[in-house]
Amino acid sequence: MKRIVILISGRGSNMQAIAERCADQRWPAQVVAVVANRPDAAGLAWAAARGIATAVVEHRAFATREAFDAALAEVIDGFAPDLVALAGFMRILGDDFVRRYEGRMLNTHPSLLPAFPGLHTHRRALEAGCQVVGATVHFVTPALDHGPIVMQGVVPVRPGDDEQALAERVLAVEHVIYPQSVRWFVEGRLRLEGARVHQLDGASQVLM
Ligand code: GAR
Repeated sequence: MKRIVILISGRGSNMQAIAERCADQRWPAQVVAVVANRPDAAGLAWAAARGIATAVVEHRAFATREAFDAALAEVIDGFAPDLVALAGFMRILGDDFVRRYEGRMLNTHPSLLPAFPGLHTHRRALEAGCQVVGATVHFVTPALDHGPIVMQGVVPVRPGDDEQALAERVLAVEHVIYPQSVRWFVEGRLRLEGARVHQLDGASQVLM
């Protein structure tokens, strides 16, 4: 059984999607812990109610990013994960932390990377006049919201859409592509080759 640790900062709906799909579809994996950088992250209660171990490493308690990263890594390593899944984890992680989990850390980001890394992706996509938007699941590299792409989901921008409408449409896509990507990872169906990720069964890596 592959061991998954999920990092959250808030609601945790992607964490829920992964945990539910993992159990329902009987992946050869288990979500062994959910770790948050905020004690009020709503997803913690959901995880705890489901019998998943939870932990909080409060970033505010540390003077430096390095100290926070080191404490976070210690907690994560205590759960001996095969995969670390960032699911709405809103802290920038240092290079050393990222390298420690290289090739075994995934993230979901609410844009079609490499467009719109960082915050306010939907507002920026609307301002740019994008006709499609989406989400990207990728392996994490030291550059923010960057790294080999496992899967992307694309949705249209409709007349009258505002940030909220796009956020909801994109989130629904994340709830499909993130569990799918994690499943491929734990089933050993992904191969990383430089900047590219190959799905070994030839399954489509785009959801449209
Ligand atoms: C998701 O849309 C995720 O892509 C985004 O935060 C949301 C978390 O929702 N992450 C980022 O913007 C990271 N760069 P959730 O807590 O309900 O899963």
